[in-house]
Amino acid sequence: ARKVILDVDTGGDDAIAIMTAALCPDLEVVGICTTWGNLPIENTTENTLRVVQLLGMDIPVARGASQAMVKTLFPGRLHNPYTPDFVMDENGNRIGYHDPYLPIPAATIKESNLCAVEFYIKALTESAEKITLIPVGPLTNLALAMRAKPSICEKIEQIVIMGGGHTQRNDTASAEFNIWCDPEAAQVVLTSGCDITIVPLDATHRTALTMDHARRFTEMHTPVGDLTAKLIEERITAYQLLQPANSTGELSTPIHDALAVCAVIDPSVLTEVLYTRVNVDMSGGYADGATIVDTREKQDQPKNCHFALDADIDKFADMLVEYLGRFGG
Ligand code: BDR
Ligand code: CA
Repeated sequence: ARKVILDVDTGGDDAIAIMTAALCPDLEVVGICTTWGNLPIENTTENTLRVVQLLGMDIPVARGASQAMVKTLFPGRLHNPYTPDFVMDENGNRIGYHDPYLPIPAATIKESNLCAVEFYIKALTESAEKITLIPVGPLTNLALAMRAKPSICEKIEQIVIMGGGHTQRNDTASAEFNIWCDPEAAQVVLTSGCDITIVPLDATHRTALTMDHARRFTEMHTPVGDLTAKLIEERITAYQLLQPANSTGELSTPIHDALAVCAVIDPSVLTEVLYTRVNVDMSGGYADGATIVDTREKQDQPKNCHFALDADIDKFADMLVEYLGRFGG
């Protein structure tokens, strides 16, 4: 099995990503780092522990950064017009936050003694094999680890990031949430020289799941199936004003982070992928956190990542059903 480390801000789609990775026999989750993002670090860490406990698996959870590397020093860059954990009314007004905790039992298992940066460095240094990283939240932890010990990059097989967007954005008119949260961290990772695949909104919006998909998880009659269905249903209801209806006009919700996990398991779930140069805007202006995808024929900087523009919704849904359906089996 391929060794992976997840980096999450759990978060509903993060929870589904964790369960998919943990239950896929082709992957071995050697650890999970938590980061701030969807919610404060206390909540994302507790939620991650809850998911690991629900799975009944022995996977270390290492708490990570509680804020951006640089951005939080500039109050002017913090304005956040959208966070996925707002509940909106029918006019699109924010009426509060979702429950910051996942609807599963509180964690009695404990987090690792190592912080996320220590965990990355120890796991990568000590592993005989290279490890694939799947960061699906702000990239603060990984950037800090790379700066603290640059040689870890030699032990990274591949980095598959959920973040960014070329034709699609969510957090601001120009930026996707994960990259917007810590643009400097994202640029550190993108210029690390590692083998990088980006699974941006362009791909995740093409694999938005519907209530019909949710039913396939309910039918599993397991705690994992129930949680997945509930999270999908909740997201469809809560975010219907933010998410585009899918091509058939049905209400749907992207499960962003799980697509990054599926892209590690089977890269063919991504159907259109550019090999190109991507930089992150760190200007603090309207484009702060935007991923600048070079689509020119002649580029003046080295290519640094594979950037997905489309994905196969049927394959994605089938993969989730297959792996999440293994719980208890
Ligand atoms: C990303 O932002 C977070 O809210 C989600 O968990 C996902 O990682 C989508 O922009
Ligand atoms: Ca996330």
